Amino acid sequence: MTGLIKKPFGKLRLGVNIDHVATVRNARGGPYPDPTRAALIAEKAGADGITAHLREDRRHITDADIEALMAALTLPLNFEMAATDEMQAIALRHKPHAVCLVPERREERTTEGGLEVAREENRLAHFIAPLQDAGCRVSIFIAADQRQIEAAFRIGAPVVELHAGAYCEYDLAGDVAARDAECARLRDMASFAADLGLEVHVGHGLTYDNVKPVAGFPEVVELNIGHFLIGEAIFSGLDAAVRRMRALMDEGRREAFGGEAQ
Ligand code: PXP
Repeated sequence: MTGLIKKPFGKLRLGVNIDHVATVRNARGGPYPDPTRAALIAEKAGADGITAHLREDRRHITDADIEALMAALTLPLNFEMAATDEMQAIALRHKPHAVCLVPERREERTTEGGLEVAREENRLAHFIAPLQDAGCRVSIFIAADQRQIEAAFRIGAPVVELHAGAYCEYDLAGDVAARDAECARLRDMASFAADLGLEVHVGHGLTYDNVKPVAGFPEVVELNIGHFLIGEAIFSGLDAAVRRMRALMDEGRREAFGGEAQ
């Protein structure tokens, strides 16, 4: 299943997730640092989209942030949300370019797993229909798992984002064998999803050190990266962090495809 290049590959898109600018702001409760300002810097530095997750508990991004982003951005906004009625109403009010459905548990520190699409296909099919009718491109954040990919396809989602968390954690732990196995699984599942006609994104946990192999997966068209970039911004500034990530993604693409990558 791996390694079959089916079409020439364009530039990989970088979605910058600015949630953790809001995390820092909310630690004090004041107006700074401002996530919209971060989004505009990321845009200038080469981001292709901005991702923001409005959590049920509003622990980082707030409703006012979404309003501000919608008003200020020229880049597409990828609005991450749980599949709840409240979030659906907010998405339908703003009509962002993209809506990414993620699982949410209050006690988790971040989005720990993918959405269990296979378990609630019927509900999710009805849930995404009005979002698609409103012109939002719906993506579903799922584990790199054939069952979940098939379920996402059956409910009519045009995009899946594959959860890279396990790959990234093994990388951090220095467990090379497990990391490489996860990398191969992600790659195979990206190929499987693309064969079904789904657009494939990857996200969660990506860093300078682990991004290149993923950037080289032929079927992947977008990476969404947040926490590491915002952390690096403390040391190098956000502009430099986004530029470096962009350069590494391009390098990963070039190394995988040589002259075929743009
Ligand atoms: N993609 C999705 C769907 C996410 O929920 C998140 C944040 O949890 C990310 C990408 C970005 O992950 P990270 O902040 O680890 O880069």
